[in-house]
Amino acid sequence: MKSIVILISGRGSNMEALLDAVASGSLPVRVAAVLANRLDAAGLKVAAARSVATRVVDHGQYADRETFDAALAETIDGYAPDLIVLAGFMRVLSDGFVRRFAGRLINIHPSLLPSFQGLHTHRRALAEGVRVHGCTVHFVTPALDHGPIIVQAAVPVLDGDDEDSLAARVLAQEHAIYPLAIRWLVEGRLRLTGNRVEFDAAQDAAGVLVSPLAQ
Ligand code: GAR
Repeated sequence: MKSIVILISGRGSNMEALLDAVASGSLPVRVAAVLANRLDAAGLKVAAARSVATRVVDHGQYADRETFDAALAETIDGYAPDLIVLAGFMRVLSDGFVRRFAGRLINIHPSLLPSFQGLHTHRRALAEGVRVHGCTVHFVTPALDHGPIIVQAAVPVLDGDDEDSLAARVLAQEHAIYPLAIRWLVEGRLRLTGNRVEFDAAQDAAGVLVSPLAQ
């Protein structure tokens, strides 16, 4: 069975959704470890309570991005994972780190990329008045919040939404599409062609856009 390492910085609800999917048998991977860049990342306790190995590589202990990334990479390599899964990991990774794990490093971002890269995506979506918002699972490339897109989920922006209500609607979809994307990856159903991700013939093309209204 393929193994993954999950990187978090905080709450870890996406991590928890992945652990749930593993426990239910819908995500056939072994979670080798959960790593955090902060001692106070709440998700560490959740992982430990489920007997998943946890490690902290505290970015505050390193002089610069390169030395932190080197220590993080060494820790990851200690678990020899097939896939490195960023789940609310709020550190910009150096080009060297990204290249070292190219094709094995994925991220979830709370917007329909390439719209709203960076922070405060829900606030900015509301400010722009978009009618459709969502989340994206993508391969990580050196450019922040870029990289070949594996799956996206779209949600409506409703009249009366505030940042919290919109974030909650998007987060529910994050929890649905991240296990899905990882399952496709470990089952070998995806291949990278330039900047695009293509699926094997068996994949229903509609599956890569999840719309809760259609369910
Ligand atoms: C999630 O919404 C995730 O998409 C976002 O942080 C949140 C983490 O929540 N990630 C980013 O913004 C990365 N650029 P979680 O800790 O409960 O999974």
